[in-house]
Amino acid sequence: MVDQPLAGRVAAITGASSGIGAATATALSRAGATVALAARRRDRLESLAERLEGPSSIHEVDVTDEEQARSFIESAHAEHGGLHGLVNNAGVMLLGAVDGADTAGWRRMLDVNLWGLLVCTHAALPLIAQSGGGDIVNISSVAGRRATAGAAVYNMTKFGVHAFSEALRQEALHAGVRVTVVAPGFVDTELQAHNTDPLVRQGMARAREEIGEILQPDDIADAVAYAVTRPPHVCLNEVVVLPTGQAR
Ligand SMILES: NC(=O)c1ccc[n+]([C@@H]2O[C@H](COP(=O)([O-])OP(=O)(O)OC[C@H]3O[C@@H](n4cnc5c(N)ncnc54)[C@H](OP(=O)(O)O)[C@@H]3O)[C@@H](O)[C@H]2O)c1
Repeated sequence: MVDQPLAGRVAAITGASSGIGAATATALSRAGATVALAARRRDRLESLAERLEGPSSIHEVDVTDEEQARSFIESAHAEHGGLHGLVNNAGVMLLGAVDGADTAGWRRMLDVNLWGLLVCTHAALPLIAQSGGGDIVNISSVAGRRATAGAAVYNMTKFGVHAFSEALRQEALHAGVRVTVVAPGFVDTELQAHNTDPLVRQGMARAREEIGEILQPDDIADAVAYAVTRPPHVCLNEVVVLPTGQAR
């Protein structure tokens, strides 16, 4: 019989339409969880839901819209009769120098990577506590631990995720809510493709070449699944997952 440590648990996942979010939804579903899938691209969510063997729901959500984010979390809780986990995964990475940057890209990163994570967490925290406790997993990045030229605002958002998560961990532990930050290195997803600046693209191609074999979304999904299946008295505060060939 397949081991299903998350049977009876309900997890909400943002950015589930591609990359790490889709892989995490698959891993948690395989471990027995009912998964509530959120993103803007409904067609992607529908095809993911069809591939899952376990129960799921799909929610067309822009996490930067507080009302949509809150309604996603509340309907996931209501529809599935509880909420035991939130994976704040939705994110964008638009790189480039500060000087001359398109500030619309900065606004987008702040809105998705920080504001979206904050409002989903705000809505989910009391519902997870009310459901008997569980996990909030925030997907950060190695860029949240080390800043580099050309990534200033992305760094700022991901450093913010680490700071918020640690403070939240201290506040939420009394309610039986664990908070885990997962900080990946270079993963093969759509994230890099949103960058159009040729210098940025060259830099990413060079980094990829230097690393050799980069991570796959399943590698990060494994780390999330491992964290949320620890015994209740064990909290993995921070999990850094790098490709073996990634120096920094
Ligand atoms: N790939 C890497 O190398 C890497 C490394 C470190 C950390 N990370 C982090 O991992 C997370 C997932 O990224 P990924 O690599 O899997 O990239 P991805 O394939 O581009 O996935 C990003 C996800 O975020 C969703 N999203 C973006 N804006 C949204 C919005 N306004 N509302 C709702 N959902 C939104 C996208 O869905 P829709 O477009 O359908 O809305 C998509 O599902 C991000 O937080 C990223 O910073 C990635």
